[in-house]
Amino acid sequence: MSEIEIHPDLDSLAHAAAEHIVHLAAEAVAARGQVTIGLPGGSTPRTLFALLADSPWAKRIDWARVHVFWGDERCVPPDHPDSNYRLAHETLLRHVPVSTEQIHRIPAELLPAEAARAYERTLRDFFADDDLSLPQPRFDLLLLGLGDDGHTASLFPGTAALAETTRWVVENYVPRLDAWRITLTAPAINAAAHVIFLVSGAGKAPALRAVLRGPRQPDVYPAQLIQPSAGHLRWLVDRAAATLL
Ligand code: 6PG
Repeated sequence: MSEIEIHPDLDSLAHAAAEHIVHLAAEAVAARGQVTIGLPGGSTPRTLFALLADSPWAKRIDWARVHVFWGDERCVPPDHPDSNYRLAHETLLRHVPVSTEQIHRIPAELLPAEAARAYERTLRDFFADDDLSLPQPRFDLLLLGLGDDGHTASLFPGTAALAETTRWVVENYVPRLDAWRITLTAPAINAAAHVIFLVSGAGKAPALRAVLRGPRQPDVYPAQLIQPSAGHLRWLVDRAAATLL
């Protein structure tokens, strides 16, 4: 099941996302005493992160119960300008009362294969406990972005990661960027209880139309792989990105 919300602009999109996060976090904490949230990379989430770091939103989340993960990471150190961790830390995490034990960073300063294995171990230790047969991690909420080429997380068109069906995390070489990335796999993302895409800007309109309205060709538009098997999918888009829908 998926829903599409069209908001006037990025600011109102971020407010709507913050409202969903507050609601889903309260629901998860009431049910399980904690909430697991995977953050996206890129620039779109910056507005949302700043909102969540400020009142009234910061006070509406029980941060002591929040566990923070990432959907993907660039293969750079955590203090690198391109680091998804650094963006979240600077705009949100250092402003709210979360402990380092609640922040599960992708160790992307390691060699790509080592970083992927290490992050998958982190996820298995956290989600599987003693249930080592757990097929995939069940995040309460995964926030995702959409690239203008239809990628999401670091699942880029034509890359090896798209074919992964059992691993939770892989290293993925992206020829277009001539760079390695660490990413959750589509099965790992699809196991989440809630997935919310944040899509803003006219530059995303063709990809958004192709993903949502075009023929199914996930190798070309990897965001089409995201179909939560037992979860809820929501697209928060602004008018500029929705012009071709
Ligand atoms: C990354 C992301 C990536 C991002 C999209 C959209 O590491 O870059 O996780 O999937 O969400 O590329 O990026 P923008 O928000 O910058 O448009």
